[in-house]
Amino acid sequence: MTRVIGVISGKGGVGKTTVVANLGAIFAQKYKKDVVIVDCNVSTSHLGLYLGMYYTPITLNQVLTGDAEIEEAMYEYHVSGLRVIPSSLSYSDLKGVDIARLKSTIKKLFGKVDIVLLDGAPGLGREALATVRASDEVLLINTPFVPSTMDIMKCHQVATEIGAKPLGVILNMVGKEKYEMTPKEVEELIELPVISNIPMDKNVLRSLALKMPVVLFSPGSRSSKEFSKLAAHLLEEKYEPDGWVYNLMKLFRPKSKK
Ligand SMILES: Nc1ncnc2c1ncn2[C@@H]1O[C@H](COP(=O)(O)OP(=O)(O)O)[C@@H](O)[C@H]1O
Ligand SMILES: [Mg+2]
Repeated sequence: MTRVIGVISGKGGVGKTTVVANLGAIFAQKYKKDVVIVDCNVSTSHLGLYLGMYYTPITLNQVLTGDAEIEEAMYEYHVSGLRVIPSSLSYSDLKGVDIARLKSTIKKLFGKVDIVLLDGAPGLGREALATVRASDEVLLINTPFVPSTMDIMKCHQVATEIGAKPLGVILNMVGKEKYEMTPKEVEELIELPVISNIPMDKNVLRSLALKMPVVLFSPGSRSSKEFSKLAAHLLEEKYEPDGWVYNLMKLFRPKSKK
């Protein structure tokens, strides 16, 4: 069965694209899942940029105008086999794009892949709601601050109304500062569990400059470990730490007697 998970938020800049790129990479590389990540933020698309994919002659835009099939807009990113459907970087390619076609477009992937991750547009406008409508489940991306949390409350309500199952809140860019909201405070306001706390980590910005997900660039970093834990949680797998420190430790671990 194909899982379609929308990654959404009310506020922009909270980490949706980062979460999509990193979860996609872990699902594909570590769990050997057949994964497609889709840039559904067609008006201000970033997913392709985050992965260094600048030359993509066919994009989601042409699929949404009816000029291409979804398979034609799919590109392999990495040896792991992660596949990406980018949106166009060109303003002129927005002409004729019908975002209402997103749901039927994504449906064409049903039964063909294991997981589809949708990188949503922020807010509650047409573009953002199209992602919720195309999703069976949603991840709500938040930061530990009041404004984004208030917006997430609305996203939760909208997702419930549309019938997309909220999987929980991901608190991103957590600094554990006194002025930040705690996960408990967020949970009480939104009435959903906080399923991941991803730290504010410079490695995420370094990885962006190198155009690769932090989980591939720096698997041992604090943010990568949290992304790995989150991926295991979403797949209902046991979390196994990775990264070079862990692999080194494994080499020296005494072998168990049979
Ligand atoms: N955990 C993090 N630590 C540091 N920087 C982050 C983290 N998560 C995201 N960022 C940075 O924040 C910016 C916005 O993230 P992005 O994923 O584009 O948000 P959105 O898709 O919600 O607009 C990017 O520059 C990204 O590299
Ligand atoms: Mg984004």
